[in-house]
Amino acid sequence: MSPSRNRNVLVAVLAVMVVVLALGAVAGIRLIAGPPGGGFARALGGASTGPSGDSVPAAPGDPGGGDLYFPGYGNGGYDVERYDLKLRYDPATDRLSGVARVTAKATQALSRFNFDFGRLSISSLKVDNADATSEHDNKTELTVIPAAPLVAGRTFTVDMAYTGTPIGEAFNHTATGAIVLGEPESATEWYPSNDHPKDKAAYEIEITVPDGLTAVSNGVPGGSTLGGDGWRTWKWSQSAPMASYLAMMAIGKFRIFEGTSDGLRYYTAVDEAQPAGGVAEQCVRRSPEVAAFLATQFGPYPFDITGGIVVSLGTLGFALENQTRPIYPPSFFTAGEPAGTSIVAHELAHQWFGDSVSVGQWRDIWLNEGFATYAQWLWEEKDDGITAQAQFDRTYATPETDEIWRPAPGDPGADDVFAESVYVRGAMSVHALRMTIGDDVFFKLLKEWTSTKKGSTGLITEFQALAEKLSGKELDTLFQQWLYTQTKPPYPGR
Ligand code: ARG
Ligand code: ZN
Repeated sequence: MSPSRNRNVLVAVLAVMVVVLALGAVAGIRLIAGPPGGGFARALGGASTGPSGDSVPAAPGDPGGGDLYFPGYGNGGYDVERYDLKLRYDPATDRLSGVARVTAKATQALSRFNFDFGRLSISSLKVDNADATSEHDNKTELTVIPAAPLVAGRTFTVDMAYTGTPIGEAFNHTATGAIVLGEPESATEWYPSNDHPKDKAAYEIEITVPDGLTAVSNGVPGGSTLGGDGWRTWKWSQSAPMASYLAMMAIGKFRIFEGTSDGLRYYTAVDEAQPAGGVAEQCVRRSPEVAAFLATQFGPYPFDITGGIVVSLGTLGFALENQTRPIYPPSFFTAGEPAGTSIVAHELAHQWFGDSVSVGQWRDIWLNEGFATYAQWLWEEKDDGITAQAQFDRTYATPETDEIWRPAPGDPGADDVFAESVYVRGAMSVHALRMTIGDDVFFKLLKEWTSTKKGSTGLITEFQALAEKLSGKELDTLFQQWLYTQTKPPYPGR
């Protein structure tokens, strides 16, 4: 990742633009307007000849995505529209093979571009159905070099076949199969992607496993079919835009609970090794009820289906808000209720805060974890009668020396995006805002944020701007004290 090189490229492109615009004006040529960086290059073509006869070369897409915390995540120069993934996994041999078609739009004239892809080996690669060259560092970067440069603004396809033994942290082996999940990164271990929430796309996922196993993924189930070879293919469709880290697959033996509750579809899977009717199963089966409650606080549920997966994976230390279908380790339910369903409220709140509205920068993780933790307070107030105010006062009483106050949740640092302070002080920050602007404006703000940003990304600065607009209050001091100082903030209003 090199911001300075980007700047140089930008300066060069701008200089060429000025010359061509001038010549274009002289020759009476009208340039077609388009998306930033797109319209101009589209008018010229991939590496075509300008009116002056000068060649405007297509340039490589940025191998990084401009994230302040994780500069290697994501790539520039294109925008993915959809992923069609066909995976095949054999637990007996631990071999994963995949066929991925990525449909994307070039946002600049591209001589080459990158996907984020890990240690599986690419065996074939085509761009627009023609053989293309690739370079793979077998760690994070797969560089695709099409036979001819790609024209800006055009949609293209990349077909890749790959195979190998998955060995990364996101690929968890279980007694009956595998669970693949992780944040902020996990995609590179099972499919090539533009691995940053800024580039969301639709997904069609097919997973083929030995018959007798179930493969669960995101979105709406498309049933399964048994092939002549004794392998079964499970189909999943996620049509709403999804960030790459939220895609998952869970292969194993599950009890499935499927249906519609108050108009909301659900598909919930519980690993057969978990006790039938046990706490985990009971809590996760409440997902439609929890989602319906959260909709009263945040606005309409953002997707066409909900659910969850309870896995048998003792080593998994976190639950994750995988889109439409969070994954929960059984350890989160050993304390019973009310903690059990509170976790469900946390992961389902992420469907609004994190999944539908994703972070534009990983630095802004408070927009995910602060709100998901606050949703637990809202749920517990409804289900158990402990008010959010009481939770705030209880946690606020934590001494200044305690680690829940640091690092500051608005900019915790790349190593600390999941620090306790991001969650607990993060939730307190949300409540401090509520105390400052009042309940009416606060809940209006949440609903307006989730509706105007639906399916895209947001930043804390944008959230603050909306809060200021709706409340008519200047909130710099509040945001500064709660999100950006390392010290314990003053009690709101004092
Ligand atoms: N977003 C997850 C949650 O709901 C946390 C993921 C933590 N990831 C990790 N590698 N510890 O809290
Ligand atoms: Zn969370």
